[in-house]
Amino acid sequence: MIKQGPIGIFDSGYGGLTVFKEIVQRLPQYDYVYLGDNARVPYGIRSFETVYRYTWECVQRLFELDCNLVVLACNTASAKALRTIQQNDLPLYDPSRRVLGVIRPTAEVIGKYTQTGKVGILATQGTVSSESYVIEINKFFPDVAVYQEACPLWVPLVENNEFHTPGAAYFIKKDLDSLFAKNPDIDCVVLACTHYPLLADIIRKFLPEGVRLISQGELVADSLADYLERHSDLRACCSLGDNRQFYTTGAVPEFDEKASLFLGSAVQSTQLLL
Ligand code: DGL
Repeated sequence: MIKQGPIGIFDSGYGGLTVFKEIVQRLPQYDYVYLGDNARVPYGIRSFETVYRYTWECVQRLFELDCNLVVLACNTASAKALRTIQQNDLPLYDPSRRVLGVIRPTAEVIGKYTQTGKVGILATQGTVSSESYVIEINKFFPDVAVYQEACPLWVPLVENNEFHTPGAAYFIKKDLDSLFAKNPDIDCVVLACTHYPLLADIIRKFLPEGVRLISQGELVADSLADYLERHSDLRACCSLGDNRQFYTTGAVPEFDEKASLFLGSAVQSTQLLL
């Protein structure tokens, strides 16, 4: 008999809190553990091998904290590590555990949001070069054209809480201009990095009129609710309660301060040394 445990939510840093927030709101009945690998953020500039190694290491730590289900609330990890973990690692480690990502839940609904059939993807360099969004969206909506823009400075701006500065606005505008130069008919833009919703207000100022901005949090939360509805075996492995634990591989005071700001409620984390 499998021991029940909390749902694990993982990101390279603070960005996954934007997904955590929506999941907890949608499914408040479960216990949750959040792990941010703040000591090694950003992942977006790292190689496939490194992102995979870091991600699998963190997922195993969440398993050791009794999580039977882990959500990679990180597009870069979903793009570069999820498939290997699902196909190679889980069958050997423990086939009853599950690891889910954020790209598929986004790709499978995105066609509903575009009229022109032209979708923009704003993401880290790692997610863009993996082509995961192009491949996944094409599976569900072969007629939708996908235009990608890597925004390498946006994660550091969020992690360092520097996003309300004029410098941040300059780089955000520059990357958006570059995306729309690829096709001005894009009518739907996906924030395909879980850090980016924190920049949404600034992004909106520079978006052409009528363009929809899509954050993943709600989409991922809906998809997880649906997944648990369909998988009663896994649902039974998720403990019920109101425990919300936070772990960071970085410095606790800094995590607590920024995570409290992002979530709008006090956070007390524990350091997890890798
Ligand atoms: N938040 C992560 C994502 O969704 C990546 C940030 C990073 O570590 O570069 O892609």
